[in-house]
Amino acid sequence: MCGIVGYVGKKEAAPILLDGLRRLEYRGYDSAGISIIENGKIVTVKATGKVVELQNKIGEKKMASKIGIAHTRWATHGKPCDKNSHPHTDCKGNISIVHNGIIENYLELKDQLQKKGHKFTSETDSEVVAHLIEEFSQKPASTRGDDRSSTRGGLDFRGAVLESLKLIKGTYGLAILDRNCPEQMIVARLGSPLLLGVGKDEFIVASDASAIVQYTDKVVYLEDGEMAVVSADNFEVFNVKNKLIKKEISKLDWDIEQAQKNGYAHFMLKETFEQPESIANAMRGRISKTDGMARLGGLRDVEEKLKDINRIIIVSCGTSYNAGLIGEYMLEEYAGIPVEVEYASEFRYRKPLLDKRTAVIAISQSGETADTLAAIREAKNKGALTLGIINTVGSTIARETDAGIYNHAGPEIGVASTKAFTSQLTILTLLTVFLGRQRDMSLVTGKRILSELEKIPKHINEILSGDKEIKKIAKKYANFSDFLYMGRKYNFPIALEGALKIKEISYVHAEGYASGEMKHGPIALIDENFPSLFVAPRDSVYEKNISGMQEIKARSGKIIAIATKGDKEISKHASDVIYIPKTLEMLTPLLAVIPLQLLAYYVGISKGYDVDKPRNLAKSVTVE
Ligand code: G6P
Repeated sequence: MCGIVGYVGKKEAAPILLDGLRRLEYRGYDSAGISIIENGKIVTVKATGKVVELQNKIGEKKMASKIGIAHTRWATHGKPCDKNSHPHTDCKGNISIVHNGIIENYLELKDQLQKKGHKFTSETDSEVVAHLIEEFSQKPASTRGDDRSSTRGGLDFRGAVLESLKLIKGTYGLAILDRNCPEQMIVARLGSPLLLGVGKDEFIVASDASAIVQYTDKVVYLEDGEMAVVSADNFEVFNVKNKLIKKEISKLDWDIEQAQKNGYAHFMLKETFEQPESIANAMRGRISKTDGMARLGGLRDVEEKLKDINRIIIVSCGTSYNAGLIGEYMLEEYAGIPVEVEYASEFRYRKPLLDKRTAVIAISQSGETADTLAAIREAKNKGALTLGIINTVGSTIARETDAGIYNHAGPEIGVASTKAFTSQLTILTLLTVFLGRQRDMSLVTGKRILSELEKIPKHINEILSGDKEIKKIAKKYANFSDFLYMGRKYNFPIALEGALKIKEISYVHAEGYASGEMKHGPIALIDENFPSLFVAPRDSVYEKNISGMQEIKARSGKIIAIATKGDKEISKHASDVIYIPKTLEMLTPLLAVIPLQLLAYYVGISKGYDVDKPRNLAKSVTVE
């Protein structure tokens, strides 16, 4: 989604802002822009396209300033073009703002402001914020209490922002400049992430830690309804009631190397190859072999409550939703707890029936997905216990859930999720053992699952070493325009995930389907131009998958199969086979997904697409 960066300090702001934008590009990137205060004036440059276009447009311009704000945009209101790009300014060019989120009542506010003579230049919802601040700055001092500016006769910068925020309905992460306060930047958040990086005589504000991590590891997380007034040597945080709030400075757990490509052509490839390590990190210190138990420090405070839980609802979106579906199979089979998995976007608008014995688990890589956050808030209101399986430490969902387990996968930059997914599955396995052992899972079963889980990184290394073979298969199939991905039981969600991956980065139409359902519709599509991919390891549904493959073959459909190493029979049915090592049935998804990530990657690059930044998609969807 859109990215925000802001800087105030002793250094030149523009290079820092541009660098921040480049690091945020993965969140959304149809246009970008920057505002600084130079010689008492706000100077703004905007460009449609990637950050490099903005850089080219700035060209030789000096942009000498120690304060500025910048933005990468992922269009919601108004098409991508220069005039709709951020920053947006007021009528006189005194105020400049960048905004993430959606101002729901912008039409009403715009109408009122236009009647007062404000001239709008964009089709965005965000522009109203600049005009609102302008309006409050111009109000007669007598009507506005103590906060007044001697120069403008209206409210001062902070007062005008505060009054504006009171009128806004919707969500925002905002960074604002006022040319009359050239040493101050104001930032505010409601439902859109914003962090304040604390450096030496400088502050870097960003919607995402990746734009901060190279400057400082000290951050202040702003909460919803908070606003910070930031200058080079100080910051103060206020709530909506204008009360000063004391904030803690936290430490970021990312380092700069983790946020770079380290010689790989793309972040997606790097992150795919990092999986043996990220899975090991998700397990580290959490396995107690002797008592066949998972040690989950983040659940310590709710351990007793979890013994009483008789129902689990998992809420998530995208790839995290697919991980949740696999969690459902694991938790029901091994922990004996009924589980439902819901798209967070649906859950939040239903009337979910929840009580104290229901645990609602949010799975989210970013910890900022707007729908997942709203679902967790809804669950909390209804008295459920809320838990998070989150990768980003300190993210909003991580902070708002009652307890949780961090993935420790490190930053995931590629838009298509890879290592976050397998670390989510690892955590779900540990959670299954934890809850199962609290109930009636035997010591032997607990030990067996954990010792097989420990072998997964080694198995993944083996699959990754067959990368060249997978690349060849990808080339062979790269020109087909439709695919059917199928799997059953634990690997049905892997069929969904495989299809999602190839859709996301290769723009190929692919449907994920439960192989047993194939006969009820999709088989009508099959012919020699419509290949299928079967996830068919040697598990309890192997024979059923083979029947499905025969039905496809009988209709001249080509088949790629993901099969267990040593399975000779499968090549009688499939045109191409990719082998994965043998493991427990419940853990096969952790292996089967790897070739599907690579297939999608290689099809995408063979078509010349920018797989790290697929069109129309965003890494973290912070609007509804
Ligand atoms: C976006 C991303 C997906 C991701 C989904 C959920 O759509 O492009 O890769 O799976 O959001 O994100 P989350 O951060 O909540 O896991």
